[in-house]
Amino acid sequence: MSTGGFKNRVFSGAQPSGNMHLGNYLGAFRNWVLLQEEYECLYCVVDMHAITQWQDPADLAASTREAAAAYIASGVDPKVSILYNQSQVAAHAELAWIFNCVARLGWLNRMTQFKDKAGKNSEQVSTGLFVYPNLMAADILLYKATHVPVGEDQKQHLELTRDIAQKFNHDFECDIFPDVQPIIQGEGTRIMSLRDGLKKMSKSDPSHYSRINLNDDTDTLMKKIRKAKTDAELLPATAKELAGRPEAQNLVSIFAALAGQTSDQVCTSFEGKGFGDFKKALTEIIVDKVAPITEEMLKLQADPSYIDEILRFGAERARAIAEPILNEVKQVVGYIR
Ligand code: TYM
Repeated sequence: MSTGGFKNRVFSGAQPSGNMHLGNYLGAFRNWVLLQEEYECLYCVVDMHAITQWQDPADLAASTREAAAAYIASGVDPKVSILYNQSQVAAHAELAWIFNCVARLGWLNRMTQFKDKAGKNSEQVSTGLFVYPNLMAADILLYKATHVPVGEDQKQHLELTRDIAQKFNHDFECDIFPDVQPIIQGEGTRIMSLRDGLKKMSKSDPSHYSRINLNDDTDTLMKKIRKAKTDAELLPATAKELAGRPEAQNLVSIFAALAGQTSDQVCTSFEGKGFGDFKKALTEIIVDKVAPITEEMLKLQADPSYIDEILRFGAERARAIAEPILNEVKQVVGYIR
């Protein structure tokens, strides 16, 4: 199995299960923007994944539009890239079912995100949450995507996607699916909570102070940085010396990611300074980079029908790629058509 012979194509997505945040932007959205010049890109709002955990229907629609607005405000051009919401392309669900029959129970049992999300409550979560990674494999392979830009937390899911592709090709003696390459790059691939440097910044964290939402106003944003957990030490000369100081490490990475520097360079600039000074500079750079995105998101969200039109247009383009590939898969599986 190889990417050789397959057209370079990018697929990625985010769940509309809450507010889009700085982790999504630094780990994913801004990398998506860089890829659109070079590759054919599909950027999906994965509303089918979102309902693996309860979503109030009115909130789901609003969050779907918010995610689309965040993609566009971050720089995704919906005329160039294909931007749509997953549930408008039924082929995702059809291929996911086939993959439910390819993936092995043991593979899914090893998924750490399922364990984290289910917690002690694993008998009560939806079966959708358990087969979530199969739907994710379907999202990607439905388009024979070769590259998937994501944050570090998605690495294990992408390994599963590769296993599913390989097993499908092997079982059905074909070479339909490419070997998918993850793109996990930059200083922002794992942004942590502002309240606990050992926990990922996440939409589902009950503490609002744990994350910077892309639609936070400047006052809120400043307050969140002011309240961000730190330690009593000064900033060291090198990033290596931040070991064992997860909150400090996280704030330095955020600064580095936004400034287009390495954490080492940030340490060199702030060596010997305390968090009072550092937080001032950090607030400035966050406001500088995030406020224009927030402003653009608000403008876009003020016109929901415009966003819906973009999503419908994207879904049409996505279906045009997906349907012939799904037909090829159905033929190989032995379905009468
Ligand atoms: P989701 O919605 O949790 O996150 C969307 C993207 O943001 C990245 N991300 C982060 N990056 C750095 N630091 C963080 N704290 C952080 N939090 C989130 C994620 O890695 C992701 O790239 N399962 C996926 C959605 C999905 C998908 C796909 C992605 C469904 N199908 C196919 C790629 C390809 C998810 O829940 O992402």
